[in-house]
Amino acid sequence: MMSKIPYNRPVLAGRELAYISQAIENGQLAGDGPFTSRCQELLRKRLNAEAVLLTHSCTAALEMAAILIGIQPGDEVIMPSFTFVSTANAVVLRGGTPVFVDIRPDTLNIDEKLIEAAINSKTRSIWPVHYAGVSADMQEICAIADRHGLTVVEDAAQALGSTYRNRPAGSFGDLAALSFHETKNIISGEGGALAINNSALMERAEIIREKGTNRKRFFRGQVDKYTWVDIGSSFLPGELIAAFLLGQLEKADEINSHRLTTWDNYFNAFVRYQDRGLRVPYTPSECKHNGHLFHLILPDEDARHEFIARMRTDDVMTPFHYVPLHSAPAGKFYGRVHADLPCTDDLSARLVRLPLFPNIGDLAERVVERACVHLDALL
Ligand SMILES: Cc1ncc(COP(=O)(O)O)c(C=O)c1O
Repeated sequence: MMSKIPYNRPVLAGRELAYISQAIENGQLAGDGPFTSRCQELLRKRLNAEAVLLTHSCTAALEMAAILIGIQPGDEVIMPSFTFVSTANAVVLRGGTPVFVDIRPDTLNIDEKLIEAAINSKTRSIWPVHYAGVSADMQEICAIADRHGLTVVEDAAQALGSTYRNRPAGSFGDLAALSFHETKNIISGEGGALAINNSALMERAEIIREKGTNRKRFFRGQVDKYTWVDIGSSFLPGELIAAFLLGQLEKADEINSHRLTTWDNYFNAFVRYQDRGLRVPYTPSECKHNGHLFHLILPDEDARHEFIARMRTDDVMTPFHYVPLHSAPAGKFYGRVHADLPCTDDLSARLVRLPLFPNIGDLAERVVERACVHLDALL
C-alpha cells in the first residue's frame, strides 16, 4: 500500500536533540538562557535588525507589536483579509479595528494600490503579510506609511529567508513578526520572534515581553533591583524550544534550498496547465521567496473541491488555505471592510496547497503524477 503524503512533516535538520540535552545540562530551562541568545543573534544578523526577541509564537510577536506601536481603542490598522486570524486578533485585543483591503491578483499580497484609499484619521499602522514567503511591495507600502505618519508591522510568519529588492523580508517595517510553528520552514513546534528595526521601540519591547518587568536591565546590571514598570505578558519561550530552534537555524539555508528544489519541480510540472485555466504562483522580479508554500489556483471552487477530493482518495493531502477574515464570524464581528474584496473572495475559494517539506524527496514525484492525472481530467 502507498503511504499517505501529508501536507507537512516536521523534520530534524541538525543538532536539535544534542542542543536540547545541552540545555538540560546547563541547568536553565526557563527562557532567555544561552540558546535564546544564540538564536536571537543569528536572526538579528540574518535580518540586519536592531534586535530580535524570541517569542513563543508569531501570534505573541504580533500581540507585542500591537502594544509597542500603541494601538488604542478606536485605532484602525490596515491589513489583508487573506491572512491568519492572529494578524487581526493582535489589533483587536488592544481595542483596535482591523481594516481589510483586497489582495493583488498575482501575488495574493495586500494590494498596495488600494491602501491609501482606506486611510483615515483613525488609521495608525499598515500590516502587510508576505504570503507564501513572497514579499509584499514594501517600497510602496513604506512610502505610503511615511506620507501618512503610520507605522508598519510586517507579518513575516512565512518569510524567513525571503528577500525584497535584495533586502530580507522582515527588515522593512518598524517591527516584523516571524513564526517557527511546525508548518513553517524553520521550526520549533510552536515558536516565533519579533524583529525590531526601530530602535526607539527596543527597551519597551524587552519589558513587555517579560511580564512588564525590567528584569533584563537587572540581569545586565543596569538597575540594582527589578520591578514592575509597564503592562506586559509572558511572551518568551523556554530554553528547550530555543535549543531545538538553534539546531534548525544553523541549517536554515539548507532547509530552504531543499524546499526550493521541490517548489521548482512543482512549478515546472504545472506551468504547462496555465493555458487550460490553472494558475501557478507568481513571483515579482524584485522578490526572492523561500520555497515556503506551493499553491495552485483552479478555475473555480467546484474544480478545487473535486481536485482536493480526488487527491485525498490517492492519499495525497492538498489543503486549501485561509478563509478570508472578512467572511468569517470573527472578522465580521470585529473588522471593517474598506471596499469590496473581489480578489480575496475569488482566489481564496480556488486555491490549494501541495505537500512541501524538506525531505519530501521522491514523494513529490507521486504528488506531481497524481495531480497531473486529475488536472487532465478536470481542466
Ligand atoms: C500569516 C500568518 N501570521 C501569523 C501566523 C501565526 O503563527 P503562530 O502559529 O506562530 O502563532 C500564521 C500561522 O500560520 C500565519 O500564516
